Amino acid sequence: MSRLRLLLALLAAAVAAAAADPPSAERGRAVYQKWCTPCHGTGLGKPGTAAAAAHGVKTPVLEQRQDLSQKMIESAVRKGTGIMPRFRKTEISDADLAAIVAYLVHK
Ligand code: HEC
Repeated sequence: MSRLRLLLALLAAAVAAAAADPPSAERGRAVYQKWCTPCHGTGLGKPGTAAAAAHGVKTPVLEQRQDLSQKMIESAVRKGTGIMPRFRKTEISDADLAAIVAYLVHK
């Protein structure tokens, strides 16, 4: 009986973990392409990429950087930086921002 209980408890925990739905990098990529690529993509005429290059960042395209932290991304998106506007939660929800972080932060 106690074994069965243990099994059921483990099962319930597994179901709960699956339902928590962690921020997905896949979703992050889609959100990123919509809102960020126009300024942070590759090629000419991308002000975010150009600004990073001007500051001497070796890999100015955001998606290729290895040094981005959750804090940097959340601050840039919610407060803006330089000519980058801040984004409201009606544009990029907290869940979408978490997905962008999952997509951009490489551990
Ligand atoms: C209108 C153009 C524009 C858009 C759209 C934009 N950015 Fe930016 N972003 C910039 C510019 C320009 C800078 C650099 C500011 C500076 O260094 O003066 C920047 C800087 C940043 C930085 C800081 C990088 C560093 O080295 O500190 C992060 C992180 C960032 N952007 C993330 C994002 C994300 C994520 C999105 C999409 C939600 C986004 N940006 C959308 C223009 C943009």
